[in-house]
Amino acid sequence: MLIRSLLIGCFLFFLGSTALMAQDFEYVGAKKCKMCHNKPATGAQYAQWADSKHAHAMESLKGDDATNPKCLKCHSTAASVDKSLIATLTVEEGVSCESCHGPGSKYFPNAIMKDREKALANGMMIPDEKVCLACHNSESPNFKGFNYEEYKTKIAHPIPAK
Ligand code: HEC
Ligand code: HEC
Ligand code: HEC
Ligand code: HEC
Repeated sequence: MLIRSLLIGCFLFFLGSTALMAQDFEYVGAKKCKMCHNKPATGAQYAQWADSKHAHAMESLKGDDATNPKCLKCHSTAASVDKSLIATLTVEEGVSCESCHGPGSKYFPNAIMKDREKALANGMMIPDEKVCLACHNSESPNFKGFNYEEYKTKIAHPIPAK
């Protein structure tokens, strides 16, 4: 009996926590990150992203392709995530910060962001190769192959060492 109620308890806890996560973290869009991540002294991550192919990924989709879910799933963060989780992210921003760093509604406030542990606990991700492979794979009609170290260097936007 005890084991059974423990199991049911765990199951309910599991249901509860996944439902909580699903509602908790929403996508806010790159402009929200720009407020703090566009100063040259700290690496101007926004400007570097805005210059990258990721930010312009929607421009590659011409005509009907611009509304084709089969293309949008990799060319737009907003079009590739659950619609109920979109706060202020737009389809036009292409592959945005939050495809790689996680939905930012809970971690973007300064008090959370400046504390790495808190940011991670509030949905921030430091991406690894797996995150890239979700889009950089042979399902892409224009796949050019993927070498993580090489591609990571091409999009690098570090905080300069003090
Ligand atoms: C209110 C200001 C503010 C906003 C808004 C903000 N950040 Fe930050 N962010 C910071 C600060 C401060 C740090 C810590 C910098 C440091 O460690 O030198 C940081 C660090 C980070 C890091 C590095 C974490 C690590 O420890 O390696 C990432 C990734 C990041 N932010 C992503 C984002 C993204 C994506 C957004 C938008 C969804 C965003 N930030 C919005 C202030 C902000
Ligand atoms: C949500 C999908 C998605 C994710 C996740 C993603 N990418 Fe991309 N990436 C794209 C798309 C789409 C393009 C092409 C944009 C265009 O040109 O229209 C691209 C282009 C690039 C390019 C430019 C390639 C060239 O031809 O010059 C580099 C470099 C790159 N990505 C690196 C990465 C790395 C590294 C990661 C993981 C940290 C990553 N990407 C994660 C979708 C994604
Ligand atoms: C599985 C993810 C994925 C899907 C699905 C996808 N793309 Fe892409 N697309 C990419 C990536 C990643 C790149 C960057 C090329 C690379 O480095 O492999 C890219 C690049 C492109 C480019 C630029 C080509 C170049 O030579 O730089 C065009 C145009 C494009 N895609 C159109 C489309 C169209 C049209 C569709 C739908 C029919 C589509 N893509 C579906 C991921 C995808
Ligand atoms: C295609 C994926 C991708 C996108 C889009 C992206 N980043 Fe990153 N970001 C990365 C990767 C990969 C790293 C390096 C992680 C590591 O340290 O291994 C990184 C690191 C960072 C860091 C920490 C730098 C450091 O030196 O600690 C900050 C801050 C950051 N990103 C902010 C942003 C912001 C803001 C945006 C949007 C304006 C953005 N990123 C868009 C993949 C991405």
